Amino acid sequence: MAQPLDDIRAETTDCRLCALSETRTNVVFGVGNPHAEVMFIGEAPGKNEDLGAEPFIGAAGQYLNSLLALAGLKREEIYIANVLKCRPPENRDPRPEEIEACTPYLRAQVRSIAPEILVTLGNFATRFILKTDRGITGLRGQVHITGRFSVLPIFHPAAAIYDRSKEPVMENDFRLLGRLIAQRRRERAERGAQGA
Ligand code: URA
Repeated sequence: MAQPLDDIRAETTDCRLCALSETRTNVVFGVGNPHAEVMFIGEAPGKNEDLGAEPFIGAAGQYLNSLLALAGLKREEIYIANVLKCRPPENRDPRPEEIEACTPYLRAQVRSIAPEILVTLGNFATRFILKTDRGITGLRGQVHITGRFSVLPIFHPAAAIYDRSKEPVMENDFRLLGRLIAQRRRERAERGAQGA
């Protein structure tokens, strides 16, 4: 039986499992629909998220919000979480020991929400979910099946802000996400019709 999200959140509130707890302002647990069909996973909170206690509310978040429309999604219908719940100082990369300490929370969130589609944003989320050492450039834009999930790796929005030549690729990947959602809905409807 999956744990309710609020119970998982309560466990993170005063988390001291790694040294990031000493420098964070807030734990950034995650936000959105607890029964989302699509769950997005980012890397770690940045400065704005650390202050606001919500993922993707800075520049990368504004860009993400604008891309969601290309997939026919609204922010309130998805769920968004990060690999790390606390901000690494100066936005440095997550360290292996931080990922190891923190990801049981993410695993519990994925189990609780039980989305059909996981969108992994950037290398850290993609490597964690697909259990691979391959980089995002070779994995993005294709649907990977792992367990009961369809996983769509996409560049991290911050990477496309930094390198504008990635924008058309981002837009195509969000359109692909829209088609994947439509396909999964059709399959669900067919299964429903057969069962009726
Ligand atoms: N980048 C991330 O990976 N996550 C956030 O919440 C914000 C920026």
